Amino acid sequence: MSIHKLNIADIRKDYRLAELNEDIAGDDPIAFFGKWFAEAEASQIEDVNAMTLATVDARNRPHARIVLLKGLTQDGFSFFTNYNSAKGQDINVNAHVALVFFWKELERQVRIEGIVEKLSEEESDSYFNSRPKGSRIGTWASPQSEVISSRKELEDTYQNYEEQFSNGIIPRPSNWGGYRVYPEYIEFWQGGGSRLHDRILFTLLDNKKWAKSRLAP
Ligand SMILES: Cc1cc2nc3c(=O)[nH]c(=O)nc-3n(C[C@H](O)[C@H](O)[C@H](O)COP(=O)(O)O)c2cc1C
Repeated sequence: MSIHKLNIADIRKDYRLAELNEDIAGDDPIAFFGKWFAEAEASQIEDVNAMTLATVDARNRPHARIVLLKGLTQDGFSFFTNYNSAKGQDINVNAHVALVFFWKELERQVRIEGIVEKLSEEESDSYFNSRPKGSRIGTWASPQSEVISSRKELEDTYQNYEEQFSNGIIPRPSNWGGYRVYPEYIEFWQGGGSRLHDRILFTLLDNKKWAKSRLAP
């Protein structure tokens, strides 16, 4: 029996907003991602930089969660987290990860797969120091992904660190920092009418050039 009052299977939408073809996508998927990101930002999409990050653990079980894209360079896509978190432990045993963006207002999805590596200490320091004070203290207070006894434990720990750092100097914990996903696969999906969606795929070749193809929707 459905737990939803309406029939979820009847929810349907036809996608007609925009066109995507090989010419529009060009030859540089990072540049094209930048263009789509700018369009998503200009459309005032909320949490435009939120992306699903999928990792695989030591037992080959996949895990997915949202993180925020915090940097884009020609090398790849960066985000910040706790290196001791569940995702950090997954990455320690398997550096292959996947990212997914869904900008529903534009009927667009971008899938990225690649190898993840830690950012340099300098890059992580630079971002950490740009964060509001509360977030920096919060980083110290949260043993991310560990079981804690209560909300109170978290708040007490936060308060202790707030006192410890009352001089205003809050260093970056060594277990917190950034990662960059170096992409090997980037797929752009644009919704199309009658389920004839456009999927343009870029795969990185051994010579570091991108090959472009079209996938059936
Ligand atoms: C909108 C949104 C943004 C988030 N951004 C981050 C982020 O940038 N970094 C992070 O570590 N967790 C972020 N989280 C929390 C993660 O989804 C997740 O709960 C946390 O990282 C622990 O995941 P793990 O136990 O699989 O390591 C965000 C969650 C949401 C809903």
